[in-house]
Amino acid sequence: MARSPLHVLLYVLATVAVAAAAAAETAVHKPPPTTNVTSDEEYWAKRAEEARAYSRAAYVADPVAELNRFNQDVQRATTRRSLARYRGPCLATNPIDRCWRCRSNWASDRQRLATCARGFGHSAMGGAGGRTYVVTDPSDDELIIPKKGTLRYGVIQDRALWIVFARSMVIKLSQELIVNSNKTIDGRGAQVHITGAQITLQGVKHVIIHGVRIHHSVPHSGGMIRDSKHHYGHRTRSDGDGISILSSSNIWIDHVSMWSCADGLIDVVSGSTAITVSNSHFTKHDHVMLFGASNSETQDAMMQITVAFNHFGKGLVQRMPRCRFGFFHVVNNDYTHWQMYAIGGNRDPTIISQGNRFIAPDDGNAKEVTKREYAPYSEYKDWVWKSQGDVMMNGAFFNESGGQNERRYGQMDFIPAKNGKYVGKLTQFAGTLGCRVGKPC
Ligand SMILES: *[C@@H]1O[C@H](CO)[C@@H](O)[C@H](O)[C@H]1NC(C)=O
Ligand SMILES: *[C@@H]1O[C@H](CO)[C@@H](O)[C@H](O)[C@H]1NC(C)=O
Ligand SMILES: *[C@@H]1O[C@H](CO)[C@@H](O)[C@H](O)[C@H]1NC(C)=O
Repeated sequence: MARSPLHVLLYVLATVAVAAAAAAETAVHKPPPTTNVTSDEEYWAKRAEEARAYSRAAYVADPVAELNRFNQDVQRATTRRSLARYRGPCLATNPIDRCWRCRSNWASDRQRLATCARGFGHSAMGGAGGRTYVVTDPSDDELIIPKKGTLRYGVIQDRALWIVFARSMVIKLSQELIVNSNKTIDGRGAQVHITGAQITLQGVKHVIIHGVRIHHSVPHSGGMIRDSKHHYGHRTRSDGDGISILSSSNIWIDHVSMWSCADGLIDVVSGSTAITVSNSHFTKHDHVMLFGASNSETQDAMMQITVAFNHFGKGLVQRMPRCRFGFFHVVNNDYTHWQMYAIGGNRDPTIISQGNRFIAPDDGNAKEVTKREYAPYSEYKDWVWKSQGDVMMNGAFFNESGGQNERRYGQMDFIPAKNGKYVGKLTQFAGTLGCRVGKPC
């Protein structure tokens, strides 16, 4: 049937309208929907409660068994190495790195990284299973409707995303960067600096941060900021941490270099758990890591964090980490610099220090690795703080406690982490790596 010009016109108009509607559906700058909650406080409280329920599920009921598994991995790797000395150009010196670093196809198989975490954060999937999102635009001018191509646009999406960088760049955040669940920030192949404000993980799960330099984060007064595709709201002040983790779980921070932030480099608070911080290089900073910020947050008893293969280097002062309530496995790290102390805490945290190297400063008053904050011996004698296989240099000493609970954790003696004398090698590549496409990292 022949169509009249009017029919054709209507048809064309209808097609355009349908296409326009479809485009509006997916448009980047679609006006933001809001959630039903009436206030930002209510929104964040609801999100934190949901996240903590998830954290409780991620909590390891038997951390000793979990640590044994971890240590068995280390031991197996050690055995392999003594059988056949590796002679290739790529040197992956610890079990996390051995999982991916010497594969020349890292750039086409980036999501393999999500299988490589060890320790309490070993389940962290990041953006695995999701698409790749490429950051092409280092700007950070739009906080409510972030521009496509920016890091902020990627991290607020609701779906899983593996975020990579088109080239080397310095991203100067204008306010805290609020990262949503199921994201990997993967800086391999570029030199990526994230500065200006903190990275906040609040009420989220499955986040991996890998291969970026994080420094010169400063406080901001807050304002309207988008935190997910369906919500933005008024945020109060941010402290200027490097990475701030609140009510979150399954988090893995690996091969980052961090220095000179206004507050802590990594703070973990408010019922977070299932976290590993590994292969990272920390320098030029006073308050390095705070795990549990308040004496009244008893929910932090579920905090379980592994700190492994990191280099605590030049210009550090204290808190590597400072802990409250939870269970902290500090294994095979190299502590070459501190001014006050290395590992501290209060409120009965369990701290198992295995196979670290502690090189004390020359200052005779700072030889002690440990520090119990504001607690008399009568209180702290029962806190389980153990040093096993640690190497002590330049007069460093670790004041252990918790004798009566020793049996509970004693079985770890039989499956040790690598001895602290290997730490130089285990942490040789701590910090960001210079990865080139087609070559092992
Ligand atoms: C939001 O409110 C509407 C109307 O009151 C209700 O139908 C809907 O279920 C609510 N959504 C959520 C997620 O609570
Ligand atoms: C987030 O990651 C977890 C663990 O891999 C997965 O179960 C969940 O489906 C993911 N969520 C999304 C939105 O992809
Ligand atoms: C180490 O701990 C013991 C108690 O376990 C305490 O009496 C002693 O003073 C501590 N040593 C130092 C040097 O702090």
